Parts: sequence; structure tokens; C-alpha cells
Amino acid sequence: MAVYEDWSTERAAQVIADHRHLEGATMPILHALQETFGFVPDPAVPLIAESLNLSRAEVYGVLTFYHDFRREPPGHHVVKLCAAEACQSMGGKALAAYAEDKLGVGMGETSPDGKVTLEPIYCLGLCACAPSALVDGQLVGRLDAGTIDEMADCFANGKSFGDA
Ligand code: FES
Repeated sequence: MAVYEDWSTERAAQVIADHRHLEGATMPILHALQETFGFVPDPAVPLIAESLNLSRAEVYGVLTFYHDFRREPPGHHVVKLCAAEACQSMGGKALAAYAEDKLGVGMGETSPDGKVTLEPIYCLGLCACAPSALVDGQLVGRLDAGTIDEMADCFANGKSFGDA
């Protein structure tokens, strides 16, 4: 389970300052903010824009273009199911529907109890073990309904996946 810092303007400004010297700094800053807070809230946009001398619209455009960036805090557990070709050809779509049902959350959403966020991801480099997923930062291959059941049990019992 990832542990993130609570959103703070001061901390965000520090993260931005640490990355603003990089070439094409918008993306590294957005990634760093998401790694720090788990998401990139709208108040980050003017901070980045001011720091990089860009318009808010430019920063907002980048933030909303890439679906890897979350604009809301994630759940305690983050399950990213691969939605790319190799995994799709190995039953990824049906598995995603099963995961939505079993984990009680729609794709791209966080469950109402804040326990799980379910997101698509596009290739984890684990195509040979398709279908694949990234569960709380841990790569999982050869996913099937049993793996999803195991995940749901772990989360319901306050455990991390793999600790069962
Ligand atoms: S397509 Fe799913 S891991 Fe590559």
C-alpha cells in the first residue's frame, strides 16, 4: 500500500522547485507531484504555470491529456490492470469486468469507501505473462479470477496483496 503525503502548497512548491530546471519540466514535475501526494490536484496548476512561466491552460492541458495523472486522491490500494494488446488477447477485458464486479469499483474510479482505485495501464512489459497488473506497485502476471478473488480478500482484511 503506497503512503503519500497530505497535499500542501508549501510542499508542492518545494517539489516544483526541485524539478523546474529539468528539460521539458512539466512532465517531471507532474510525475513528482503524483509520487509525493498520490495525485495532482487543480491547485497545483497555477503553481507549476508560474514556476515555468507557462499559461495555466498549457499546464492543465498536459495534466488532463495523460490519464496516468490522477486529479483525485487514490484509494488505499491501487490496482492497475493492463489494457494493452497482449493482455487483451489473453482475456484482459473479461478480467477487467470481473475485477470491477469483485472489487466493487468501476475502471478509472475509486471505491466509495476509499479502499481501492482501479485503473487501466498500457503495457507493463510483462506481456509474456499476460494478463498482467500492477498491484500497489507490485507486478503480477498470469492474472485470473482467482488472483482477483485473492486481492479482494486481502483488501477486505486490511492486508496488502501477497501478504496472505
Ligand atoms: S500488453 Fe500487458 S503487459 Fe504488455
